[in-house]
Amino acid sequence: MKIFLIGMPGSGKSTLGRQLAEKLMTTFVDLDQEIENYEGKSITEIFAKLGEDHFRLVESQLLRAFASSETSFVMATGGGAPCFHNGIGTINDSGVSIFLDVPLEQLVAQTSNRSTRPLLQNDSEEELRSKLRNIRDKRLQFYQQARIRLQKPDLDSLLKSLML
Ligand code: S3P
Repeated sequence: MKIFLIGMPGSGKSTLGRQLAEKLMTTFVDLDQEIENYEGKSITEIFAKLGEDHFRLVESQLLRAFASSETSFVMATGGGAPCFHNGIGTINDSGVSIFLDVPLEQLVAQTSNRSTRPLLQNDSEEELRSKLRNIRDKRLQFYQQARIRLQKPDLDSLLKSLML
Protein backbone atom coordinates (compact mmCIF):
# COMPACT_ATOMS: atom_id res chain seq x y z
CA MET A 1 0.00 0.00 0.00
CA LYS A 2 1.13 3.54 -0.75
CA ILE A 3 0.00 6.23 1.67
CA PHE A 4 0.57 9.91 0.90
CA LEU A 5 0.22 12.55 3.61
CA ILE A 6 -0.60 15.92 2.09
CA GLY A 7 -1.22 19.38 3.53
CA MET A 8 0.33 22.69 4.38
CA PRO A 9 3.85 23.21 5.72
CA GLY A 10 3.65 22.73 9.49
CA SER A 11 0.71 20.33 9.40
CA GLY A 12 2.79 17.46 10.79
CA LYS A 13 3.26 15.33 7.65
CA SER A 14 6.82 14.26 8.44
CA THR A 15 6.30 13.62 12.15
CA LEU A 16 3.07 11.66 11.69
CA GLY A 17 4.36 9.96 8.55
CA ARG A 18 7.32 8.56 10.46
CA GLN A 19 5.07 7.33 13.28
CA LEU A 20 2.60 5.76 10.85
CA ALA A 21 5.32 4.01 8.84
CA GLU A 22 6.82 2.61 12.02
CA LYS A 23 3.43 1.35 13.19
CA LEU A 24 2.72 -0.27 9.81
CA MET A 25 6.27 -1.58 9.62
CA THR A 26 6.73 -0.04 6.21
CA THR A 27 9.17 2.43 4.67
CA PHE A 28 8.93 6.13 5.39
CA VAL A 29 9.70 8.45 2.48
CA ASP A 30 10.21 12.19 2.91
CA LEU A 31 9.79 13.65 -0.57
CA ASP A 32 11.72 16.83 0.30
CA GLN A 33 14.62 14.72 1.55
CA GLU A 34 14.54 12.71 -1.70
CA ILE A 35 14.72 15.95 -3.69
CA GLU A 36 17.68 17.14 -1.62
CA ASN A 37 19.49 13.83 -2.12
CA TYR A 38 18.80 13.86 -5.85
CA GLU A 39 20.04 17.42 -6.31
CA GLY A 40 22.81 17.26 -3.71
CA LYS A 41 21.51 20.59 -2.38
CA SER A 42 19.19 21.77 0.37
CA ILE A 43 15.66 22.87 -0.53
CA THR A 44 16.70 26.45 0.27
CA GLU A 45 19.65 26.23 -2.14
CA ILE A 46 17.53 24.66 -4.88
CA PHE A 47 15.01 27.51 -4.67
CA ALA A 48 17.77 30.15 -4.57
CA LYS A 49 20.06 28.76 -7.28
CA LEU A 50 17.74 26.87 -9.60
CA GLY A 51 14.35 28.50 -8.93
CA GLU A 52 10.93 27.27 -7.91
CA ASP A 53 9.97 26.03 -11.40
CA HIS A 54 12.95 23.71 -11.41
CA PHE A 55 12.10 22.53 -7.88
CA ARG A 56 8.53 21.74 -8.96
CA LEU A 57 9.75 19.72 -11.94
CA VAL A 58 12.09 17.59 -9.86
CA GLU A 59 9.44 17.24 -7.15
CA SER A 60 6.95 15.95 -9.70
CA GLN A 61 9.44 13.60 -11.37
CA LEU A 62 10.38 12.00 -8.07
CA LEU A 63 6.73 11.81 -6.97
CA ARG A 64 5.87 9.99 -10.21
CA ALA A 65 8.82 7.64 -9.84
CA PHE A 66 7.70 6.61 -6.34
CA ALA A 67 4.05 6.41 -7.41
CA SER A 68 4.88 4.00 -10.22
CA SER A 69 7.26 1.85 -8.17
CA GLU A 70 6.24 -1.53 -6.76
CA THR A 71 7.10 -0.64 -3.17
CA SER A 72 4.84 0.12 -0.23
CA PHE A 73 5.52 3.25 1.78
CA VAL A 74 4.18 6.15 3.79
CA MET A 75 5.25 9.39 2.14
CA ALA A 76 5.34 12.88 3.63
CA THR A 77 4.94 15.08 0.56
CA GLY A 78 6.05 18.71 0.44
CA GLY A 79 3.18 21.16 0.88
CA GLY A 80 3.10 22.03 -2.82
CA ALA A 81 3.53 18.53 -4.25
CA PRO A 82 -0.20 17.83 -4.87
CA CYS A 83 -0.72 21.28 -6.39
CA PHE A 84 1.71 21.34 -9.34
CA HIS A 85 2.01 19.15 -12.45
CA ASN A 86 -1.15 17.27 -11.42
CA GLY A 87 0.52 15.89 -8.31
CA ILE A 88 -2.82 15.08 -6.70
CA GLY A 89 -3.74 13.00 -9.78
CA THR A 90 -0.47 11.08 -9.57
CA ILE A 91 -1.10 10.49 -5.87
CA ASN A 92 -4.72 9.39 -6.17
CA ASP A 93 -3.96 7.08 -9.09
CA SER A 94 -1.43 5.13 -7.08
CA GLY A 95 -2.39 5.14 -3.41
CA VAL A 96 -4.34 6.57 -0.50
CA SER A 97 -4.13 10.31 0.07
CA ILE A 98 -4.72 11.81 3.50
CA PHE A 99 -5.10 15.57 3.96
CA LEU A 100 -3.86 16.78 7.35
CA ASP A 101 -6.21 19.73 7.74
CA VAL A 102 -4.94 21.59 10.80
CA PRO A 103 -6.01 25.11 11.94
CA LEU A 104 -4.11 28.14 10.67
CA GLU A 105 -2.78 28.98 14.14
CA GLN A 106 -1.15 25.58 14.39
CA LEU A 107 0.54 26.13 11.02
CA VAL A 108 1.84 29.52 12.21
CA ALA A 109 3.18 28.00 15.44
CA GLN A 110 4.87 25.13 13.63
CA THR A 111 6.51 27.21 10.91
CA SER A 112 7.71 30.28 12.81
CA ASN A 113 11.42 30.34 13.70
CA ARG A 114 12.30 27.93 10.92
CA SER A 115 14.60 29.06 8.16
CA THR A 116 14.32 25.90 6.04
CA ARG A 117 11.18 26.84 4.11
CA PRO A 118 12.00 29.27 1.31
CA LEU A 119 8.37 30.19 0.63
CA LEU A 120 7.88 31.30 4.23
CA GLN A 121 11.17 33.01 5.01
CA ASN A 122 11.86 36.35 6.71
CA ASP A 123 8.34 37.07 7.78
CA SER A 124 7.02 38.62 10.96
CA GLU A 125 4.39 36.46 12.62
CA GLU A 126 1.63 38.60 11.10
CA GLU A 127 3.14 38.31 7.61
CA LEU A 128 3.64 34.61 8.12
CA ARG A 129 -0.02 34.18 9.10
CA SER A 130 -1.30 36.05 6.05
CA LYS A 131 1.10 34.21 3.74
CA LEU A 132 0.00 30.85 5.10
CA ARG A 133 -3.66 31.86 4.77
CA ASN A 134 -3.16 32.90 1.12
CA ILE A 135 -1.27 29.75 0.21
CA ARG A 136 -3.85 27.56 1.93
CA ASP A 137 -6.75 29.32 0.17
CA LYS A 138 -5.14 28.64 -3.21
CA ARG A 139 -4.28 25.03 -2.41
CA LEU A 140 -7.50 23.85 -0.79
CA GLN A 141 -8.91 22.90 -4.19
CA PHE A 142 -6.10 20.33 -4.49
CA TYR A 143 -5.94 19.20 -0.87
CA GLN A 144 -9.71 18.64 -0.89
CA GLN A 145 -9.29 15.94 -3.51
CA ALA A 146 -7.65 13.71 -0.88
CA ARG A 147 -9.48 10.45 -0.20
CA ILE A 148 -9.35 11.12 3.54
CA ARG A 149 -9.40 14.44 5.40
CA LEU A 150 -8.43 14.63 9.06
CA GLN A 151 -9.03 17.78 11.08
CA LYS A 152 -7.25 16.67 14.25
CA PRO A 153 -4.66 14.36 12.85
CA ASP A 154 -2.74 12.08 15.20
CA LEU A 155 -1.52 8.52 14.93
CA ASP A 156 -4.79 7.03 16.25
CA SER A 157 -7.02 8.99 13.88
CA LEU A 158 -4.74 8.09 10.98
CA LEU A 159 -4.97 4.39 11.79
CA LYS A 160 -8.75 4.61 12.24
CA SER A 161 -9.19 6.44 8.95
CA LEU A 162 -7.31 3.66 7.22
CA MET A 163 -9.40 1.12 9.13
CA LEU A 164 -6.24 -0.46 10.55
C1 S3P B 1 6.78 23.76 0.10
C2 S3P B 1 6.81 23.03 1.26
C3 S3P B 1 8.04 22.40 1.76
C4 S3P B 1 9.03 22.16 0.62
C5 S3P B 1 9.27 23.43 -0.14
C6 S3P B 1 7.98 23.97 -0.75
C7 S3P B 1 5.48 24.33 -0.33
O1 S3P B 1 7.73 21.17 2.41
O2 S3P B 1 8.58 21.16 -0.25
O3 S3P B 1 9.84 24.35 0.73
O4 S3P B 1 5.36 24.74 -1.49
O5 S3P B 1 4.54 24.35 0.49
P1 S3P B 1 6.91 21.09 3.81
O6 S3P B 1 5.45 21.09 3.50
O7 S3P B 1 7.36 19.79 4.39
O8 S3P B 1 7.33 22.27 4.62
